[in-house]
Amino acid sequence: MSNLGTERVLHVHHWNDTLFSFRTTRDPALRFRNGHFVMIGLPVDGKPLLRAYSVASANHDEHLEFFSIKVENGPLTSRLQHLKPGDEIIVGRKPVGTLVLDDLRPGRNLYLLSTGTGLAPFISIIQDPETYERFEKVVLVHGVRQVDELAYADFFQHQLPEHEFLGEMLKDKLIYYPTVTREQFRNMGRLTDLIESGKLCADIGLPMIDPASDRVMICGSEAMLKDTCKLLDARGFQISPRQGEQGDYVIERAFVEK
Ligand code: A2P
Repeated sequence: MSNLGTERVLHVHHWNDTLFSFRTTRDPALRFRNGHFVMIGLPVDGKPLLRAYSVASANHDEHLEFFSIKVENGPLTSRLQHLKPGDEIIVGRKPVGTLVLDDLRPGRNLYLLSTGTGLAPFISIIQDPETYERFEKVVLVHGVRQVDELAYADFFQHQLPEHEFLGEMLKDKLIYYPTVTREQFRNMGRLTDLIESGKLCADIGLPMIDPASDRVMICGSEAMLKDTCKLLDARGFQISPRQGEQGDYVIERAFVEK
């Protein structure tokens, strides 16, 4: 059997000039852990052009959702951004990845640290009931340059807390902390600086992050991963050494098309 299937686009949402999300049908046989990524793409010159995309929908959803940047000359995103409902898209049959709850030791608070489209896997993870069974507080940090890049803000702040099934469970646990670096906003600065200075924890009313109680998942650019890992390592956090082995934190590079 081929490792590639075909799904149909159901809905496309453009957040701004550079970011969009789209939903597709889902083969019921496609199983994944929340936080996994999958190869998706389009046929170009008769061959599939594929890129890794984190699944932004939860594994209990009937559809698949993806969150993408638009790069004018990007081989895939220059085409993907023109998707319309009814179009076909290639979706791989083998979701994988390291941003999974299984690879975190038990803890009290879970920090989900993201920049840009690194947010995507966490949209899935915060809709997983297991996240709230395992942690008392779930802190979703999204760092962006401009306010209009705070995709899904309304979903986190309003739709999820009012959600029919998930709302009750996450209402007192999920803390959404958006931060902006190049415009005025209520929270400003890089998430690394906000953690280092203690401002993030002070703002949300939690003690300074500590490997004794806290677990972390990180998804962002190469530079963001490097700096965030350095910060956590200096505080005594241990990274999950490999998939299937637990640590205090796990990481995944956000799949940005250059
Ligand atoms: P900044 O505006 O100070 O560069 P990008 O679009 O370049 O991936 O950036 C998304 C967000 O991530 C921006 O707010 C950016 O801040 C921030 N960022 C970039 N590099 C790092 C890093 N090494 N550590 C933490 N945040 C970063």
